[in-house]
Amino acid sequence: MHYQDLIAGGTDTAATTVEWAMSELMKQPELIKRATEELDRVIGRERWVEEKDIPQLPYIDAIMKETMRKHPVVVLLVPHLALEDCNVAGYHIRKGTRVFINSWGLGRDPSIWEATEEFRPERFLGKAIDVKGQSFELLPFGSGRRMCPGYSLGLKMIGSILANMLHGFKWKLPGNMKPEEISMEEVFGLATIRKFPLTAVMEPRLPLHLY
Ligand code: HEM
Repeated sequence: MHYQDLIAGGTDTAATTVEWAMSELMKQPELIKRATEELDRVIGRERWVEEKDIPQLPYIDAIMKETMRKHPVVVLLVPHLALEDCNVAGYHIRKGTRVFINSWGLGRDPSIWEATEEFRPERFLGKAIDVKGQSFELLPFGSGRRMCPGYSLGLKMIGSILANMLHGFKWKLPGNMKPEEISMEEVFGLATIRKFPLTAVMEPRLPLHLY
């Protein structure tokens, strides 16, 4: 694999995640209100969000996790091969077994999550579930030795882009379009992208000299 392909793969996955997040948020404007209240309180209206601010924004973090639960860009993780007999969560896995992990299925498994079809960032507030391969119910970057080496960069990109898009702009749907008309259809491929791109109208939220 080329270095350029890695970078392209990394930016595509982050951009796709942000587009899913904004689509879900535009369906529920009260979530945007809650996110911008956090941004106004922690950042204020006089500047943009910086990378170092992200740990102080738990609601933005919860939106990211909820987006990766419902719309993991990599639906079927790269196949893994057990090099030796092992036991994972009570399941005996024989040496030589090829394992396919369905991260989309994990995120929508009703035995793990309540109201799986609903986009509710609140479900992550105050919970220790992370996306770094330790919480097996949420594996958008995989787990173990072959997990995504770009996860830290990926999370920083998603966090900074999402936070600044919400902080810097008011979001509206074009014309008379209603939130329930936003399509959530997916196209299945190497990455799960939206079938129809999100269309939105943006207006500045911060003082104009910052743009
Ligand atoms: C939102 C962003 C990203 C997501 C959701 C994501 C997701 C994933 C997933 C699910 C895997 C397979 C892991 C497994 O099988 O356990 C993977 C592998 C990989 N990712 Fe990412 N990734 C992202 C960003 C990036 C970035 C920014 C880079 C590089 C700069 C990158 C480089 C790689 C590479 C090289 C592998 C293959 C690792 C291996 O097989 O050993 N990814 N990624």
